[in-house]
Amino acid sequence: MLKRFSISLEEDLLEGFDSYVNQHGYSNRSEAVRDLIRKALITDEWASDSEVVGVVTMVYDHHKSQLQERITELQHDFYELITSTTHIHMDHHNCLEVTIVKGIASKVQDLSGRLIALRGVKDGSLTMSSTGGHLI
Ligand code: NI
Repeated sequence: MLKRFSISLEEDLLEGFDSYVNQHGYSNRSEAVRDLIRKALITDEWASDSEVVGVVTMVYDHHKSQLQERITELQHDFYELITSTTHIHMDHHNCLEVTIVKGIASKVQDLSGRLIALRGVKDGSLTMSSTGGHLI
């Protein structure tokens, strides 16, 4: 059930928010506020070390010595956290690997940090998500 509440804002903050709403293609302020609240709750959930879900994205050159082996080793060390891995060969050298992870936030962040820090990983990020189950 939707509930209504009103917010008081300084004029310039509201102007900034309205341009944010337009830039991101929201149809109205309420939808943007809902998304921002959900993001804040998810961040909070990750900070409170709950069970979370996420996606680790990595781009790397598979010719880099030992890199592929190190990635596989880490994935086996943390196998309880890994739901699925997808590997795409981007070109002759580069690979995109996406790993879907689920588990206690600090463990997921530990795995993600170790993967991204491996020598030869050109780009890496952890997308943090959650059902927001215990908060929403
Ligand atoms: Ni590849």
